[in-house]
Amino acid sequence: MEMLRFWSVVASFSVFVTASNVRVGPNDPKEKRTDLLMRIRNYKDLENPPNYDSDKITVIEADLNVNSFDSINEASMDFKISVMLHLRWINHLITNQFTSVKSTLEYVEMDATKMGRLWVPDLYFPNEKRSSFFNVMTDNKMMRLHRNGTVDYTTRLALTLSCPMNLERFPFDKQTCSIKIESFGYTTSSLQLRWSNISENAVALNQTSLPQFEVTGRNYSHRERTHRFRGNFSYLQADFHLERNIGYYMIQMYIPSLLIVLLSWVSFWLNVNSVPARISLGVLSVLTITTQSSAVNASLPRVSYIKAIDIWMTTCLVFVFAALIEFSMANVLSRNSSSEKEFLQRIFRMTKIGRIEKEKNGNDVTIGLRRRRQSQTDGEKKDLIVNEFGNVNLKSEANEKAEKVEQNKGLVYASYLDIACRVLFPAIFAIFNIIYWVYFWKLTVN
Ligand SMILES: *[C@@H]1O[C@H](CO)[C@@H](O)[C@H](O)[C@H]1NC(C)=O
Ligand SMILES: *[C@@H]1O[C@H](CO)[C@@H](O)[C@H](O)[C@H]1NC(C)=O
Ligand SMILES: *[C@@H]1O[C@H](CO)[C@@H](O)[C@H](O)[C@H]1NC(C)=O
Ligand SMILES: *[C@@H]1O[C@H](CO)[C@@H](O)[C@H](O)[C@H]1NC(C)=O
Ligand SMILES: *[C@@H]1O[C@H](CO)[C@@H](O)[C@H](O)[C@H]1NC(C)=O
Repeated sequence: MEMLRFWSVVASFSVFVTASNVRVGPNDPKEKRTDLLMRIRNYKDLENPPNYDSDKITVIEADLNVNSFDSINEASMDFKISVMLHLRWINHLITNQFTSVKSTLEYVEMDATKMGRLWVPDLYFPNEKRSSFFNVMTDNKMMRLHRNGTVDYTTRLALTLSCPMNLERFPFDKQTCSIKIESFGYTTSSLQLRWSNISENAVALNQTSLPQFEVTGRNYSHRERTHRFRGNFSYLQADFHLERNIGYYMIQMYIPSLLIVLLSWVSFWLNVNSVPARISLGVLSVLTITTQSSAVNASLPRVSYIKAIDIWMTTCLVFVFAALIEFSMANVLSRNSSSEKEFLQRIFRMTKIGRIEKEKNGNDVTIGLRRRRQSQTDGEKKDLIVNEFGNVNLKSEANEKAEKVEQNKGLVYASYLDIACRVLFPAIFAIFNIIYWVYFWKLTVN
């Protein structure tokens, strides 16, 4: 019995010793991670680029994941993009750190605070205007050091990149916006950039439609370029091919201006004598087209060449302006010099009657008005009244009749002009439309 108790105590003790041995044993990965991190951070050579002591070229493989692609701005010719940039390179010095602390870890992870002064490539974006790192909650970057020497570095960036655009075909245009990545300090003899070929797409873009554009494709390449004084540098370029959606411009620009041009033709169906109606119709349509065309250009840069939308807007303006000019021509045709004289004379007489009547009957002008109305209906009576107040009028009845015939002739000419324009304006506008739309439709298809 005593023996049994003794052996059970020995057994339980040995189990305890074995268990604690496992917990503090030399192969425990958790303890070694701290050692490894300390060692890596204190190892000064890791602050230098890989192969710093040799002639070997360090190849950096990049992989870009586009999180959002938006705000393509024509006025400032740039776009905003938010990306996850992943870089991978090999530094064989890291393997030694793993073996020297006898770590069995495959890799060690680091966040922004642990990275310290470890080397990362000094990349920049040559076409960058503004950029920022994301730093909520901590800097959005991480590093992973693999036992085999591979370093993975990932960071998240918000970039505003310039994108020169040719707006000659606006809004039927296609644009190419690109991201360029280049090393600032290391020439091709020590550092070269490549797009990663681990996944099939080094540049991943999930979003295919932007508010105004459709992403029709992308391609990427690595190249080399020479900077004066600095030498040859390797750089990466990714191009995004964008095609503008015409929908917005159809609804906001083309259809309203088309309707206004149609509206201005209503004038040809109105009477030549309805001066206020035709004038206000013409002037309003000219003003509306002018306002619309400045609204289009408000969001565009002040380029000196003619854009496709300018052709449209200018043609619409010419059409509504021509309709207004047509009215003034019809109006001039409808009267002639002698009828104009008569018109002026009548006004002169009326004012004179009104004034004298007023003097005679105090403030009562109703008689004068009545008389004036009479005078307009009856030529003979009018002459009588006028003579009563001492204003000599030598006009005869025959003279007035001839004038009326002439005026009627003028009216006929004016209505002929209107009738001709009812056909001519729509026909020319239709021809313009056919040419315009076919031409730009073909351009977008190709
Ligand atoms: C190193 O290890 C990582 C992770 O296992 C792997 O993706 C990479 O290809 C390896 N690199 C080399 C050079 O073997
Ligand atoms: C890319 O892939 C090819 C095989 O498809 C391979 O030969 C080449 O070494 C890879 N390049 C890099 C930089 O990994
Ligand atoms: C990309 O979009 C597809 C479907 O549209 C989705 O299945 C996939 O998970 C998305 N990938 C990413 C990285 O968001
Ligand atoms: C993409 O392709 C076009 C035409 O094929 C070419 O002109 C352009 O340089 C390419 N861009 C990149 C970054 O390779
Ligand atoms: C840069 O490249 C050009 C040709 O691409 C070459 O002629 C020139 O010598 C190179 N310059 C340096 C400093 O390597």
